[in-house]
Amino acid sequence: EVCAKFDDNMRFDCFPQANANENDCIKRGCCWGVPDHRGANIPYCFYPPQYDTFKFLNMTEDKHSITVYYEKARPSGYPDDFEIARIDFKYLSDDTLQIKIYDAENKRYEPPLPEIAAVPRSVNALKYRVQIKTSSVGFKIIRNSNNITIFDTQDVGGLILSDKLLQISAILPTDHIFGLGERRARFKVDMDWEIFALYNRDRAPIEYQNLYGTHPFFLGMEPDGNSYGVFLLNSNAMDIITQPTPAITYRAIGGVLQFFVMTGPTPRAVSSQYTALVGRPFLPPYWALGFHLCKFNYLSLNTTREVWKSNRDAGIPFDVQWNDIDYMKNANDFTYDEHNYKGLPEFVDELHREGMHYVVILDPGVSASEKPGTYPPYDRGIEMNIFVRNSTDQPFIGKVWNRVSTAFPDFTHPNATQYWLEMMTSLHSKIKYDGAWIDMNEPSNMIDGIKEGECADERLPYKPHTPEQLLRSHSLCLDARHYGAPHADVHDVYGLAEARSTHAALMEIRGKRPFVISRSTFSGAGRYAGHWSGDNYSGWKDMLMSIPELLHFGLFGVPMMGADICGFRGNTTVELCKRWMQLGAFYPFSRNHNSDSSSPQDPASLGPAVVSASRAALRTRYRLLPYYYTLFYRAHLYGEQVVMPLFYDEPENKLLYDIDEQFMLGPHMMVTPILHEGANTTIAVFHGKQPWFTLAGRYLTTTGTAEMDENETVSLKGGSIIPLQEPPAHGPVSTTNTRSMPLQLLVVPAHQGSAMGQLYWDDGDSINSYDEKKYSHIEFTLERNVLQSQVVWWGYGVPSVNSVTVFNQTSVISVYLNNKSCEKPNCQFTYIEKTKVLHIHNMNLPLGKPFEIQWL
Ligand code: GLC
Repeated sequence: EVCAKFDDNMRFDCFPQANANENDCIKRGCCWGVPDHRGANIPYCFYPPQYDTFKFLNMTEDKHSITVYYEKARPSGYPDDFEIARIDFKYLSDDTLQIKIYDAENKRYEPPLPEIAAVPRSVNALKYRVQIKTSSVGFKIIRNSNNITIFDTQDVGGLILSDKLLQISAILPTDHIFGLGERRARFKVDMDWEIFALYNRDRAPIEYQNLYGTHPFFLGMEPDGNSYGVFLLNSNAMDIITQPTPAITYRAIGGVLQFFVMTGPTPRAVSSQYTALVGRPFLPPYWALGFHLCKFNYLSLNTTREVWKSNRDAGIPFDVQWNDIDYMKNANDFTYDEHNYKGLPEFVDELHREGMHYVVILDPGVSASEKPGTYPPYDRGIEMNIFVRNSTDQPFIGKVWNRVSTAFPDFTHPNATQYWLEMMTSLHSKIKYDGAWIDMNEPSNMIDGIKEGECADERLPYKPHTPEQLLRSHSLCLDARHYGAPHADVHDVYGLAEARSTHAALMEIRGKRPFVISRSTFSGAGRYAGHWSGDNYSGWKDMLMSIPELLHFGLFGVPMMGADICGFRGNTTVELCKRWMQLGAFYPFSRNHNSDSSSPQDPASLGPAVVSASRAALRTRYRLLPYYYTLFYRAHLYGEQVVMPLFYDEPENKLLYDIDEQFMLGPHMMVTPILHEGANTTIAVFHGKQPWFTLAGRYLTTTGTAEMDENETVSLKGGSIIPLQEPPAHGPVSTTNTRSMPLQLLVVPAHQGSAMGQLYWDDGDSINSYDEKKYSHIEFTLERNVLQSQVVWWGYGVPSVNSVTVFNQTSVISVYLNNKSCEKPNCQFTYIEKTKVLHIHNMNLPLGKPFEIQWL
């Protein structure tokens, strides 16, 4: 009869494996019953109340922590339950709580990455408290300011702590949660009994399936607009289950359950608290904010050069040419095809002379079938003993793009970075590449495990919901040996470890700021690498879904993010590619990339419509780069997001939670692309209390909607001052030649006439610009009709300001620059009554000293 009273929403699955049945369910001591609502994944077998697998033993507490011991109370139904379990609650700071649930008697795997700061930091006035009952297992995390429980694992049953299954469920105060990836899904998490696996997988993005990366982190929006974050640091394959209670269940197949709860209370604060923990994003070199172009199988240097040249000649702002694996000889890392790519080193030198940059692809696996003595990447790997090994202690052999077979460097091995550095140095001695694109690092393997039968049986008591029967599918055997741990434990951090080694190697080799783009990611990846969303399809849906993908990775602390513009698989069309360039021009990472079998889609190859749209959109991007760069600096230093959902501005406004076809670019700008076939305009939703304008100064609306055309993808919020640089009007455009152009300020007053903005500037390429104080930081403020600058730090020359444009002015008769009347030759102004725009120009205003401009 305890079972009968159960509401569907309070059911927590007691028999999640396939073929649940009444007998086995009852044997586990659980309830069996048909749910009231069918269809969804509502369990038939569910935990009754007080189903405690553990019972309280004792607890100690001090100013910085609580430690609780439990002993096993009943079998969980899975082999090897912990006998004594321990939970450590550590107050890392006033806003961040660490909760580690583990086996008190046996050491278990904990991922070496991301490197979490271990020392407890200052604790003064905790924003949360932990509640523990001695009568049952579990805990509550409560927000002190309003006593709302934000994570409640008490009395939900089903805590499982066994060798190969760790499960915990929590009731949440909200069904508005965001994050949990990498997945292709709308940005707001579906709480309607979703079950999804996280296990890094080389798979073209498909909804509800595990993809390239793992980020068990979500942002929760509480009913009153407060927000918090929950991060599970566990690198084993796992399922995450949501249900409308609202509640969440985590089921991981190894390791320990280590959570971090961050109490915000704003979404921006959650981001900052999260990246403080897992690592702040790297500051990209300035050139990496330019446009990138790539295709799998240009097949020769001639074609690469032609594509490069025709796009430059077409006036496409362009900074980085890439090559895919076809530049290699037989797809072997650290070689290049000296026949088809003869002259590649000289081409790269030429790119450099033109102020451009070059990125190469590297796959983690190296060929294991070259003649001994002919291929150092393999020979050296053997010598240094850094390859992943199989159960007989030989190098684990799989197959990736190499002709016959592939060995995999173990990036968790202490000597792996040294190995990788040697290899990357040897390639760099031939080709002076500037950045590295690391692919296939889930790691991907074209045969499942090794040859049939060579993996140990997977035999998992619980197998997460990946679509294949075996986790090793398209990857390595779970028992492949890494440094001190089996592949099952390491798998999800493999790509992150490779990103760390690649980042370090690039820094060493070039002595400049590294630029790495990685397909596989794990929490904290943003510290070393950016990401693209993988092998998308040239379709309208894929273009639309790229926006939630951007929002996800913004939240995950990986701001350098984009999707393959115009689509990777399949053939694009003129209309789609034009629209996608108009959107992709504003991705933080803006790259057009295409598969081997698809027809060319670089802008120049698609004709005048795509060329002119791409040129216009990219010129706007390049114009905005001082602003973009400042956003990246703030991400790097403070963990602010570059791309954000609209609700970050108004966390209590639930109407904004579902908007993921538009995005904020920093605090001042919004991007609203045209996403539908046949459309020439789009309706943008505007939020907040300030007026919105197009970049050209057209007033749109305050709160409400407005129709925008294809040249109005970007809109500006009242209250903003944006630093800009107009790219050169003639000849090829790159960041190199745009960076030396004069600065412009665009001033968009709020209703009350105030505005603010800032500029971070350095040489764009040095490793320690910030730490060595070789940068400049200027703040701008507008109060009524007075625009002022303030020099926060001056350590690197900034181009002078030659113009200031102010929107929404009712009348202007005179302008004063530093208290002198604005007159030729040092100052001129025009005011247009019809557009209400004031334009002050022909100045040569150095930024090293504060300035003041006033108009009446
Ligand atoms: C993978 C990558 C893709 C690349 C291809 C060849 O599919 O995701 O971007 O072009 O491999 O290297």
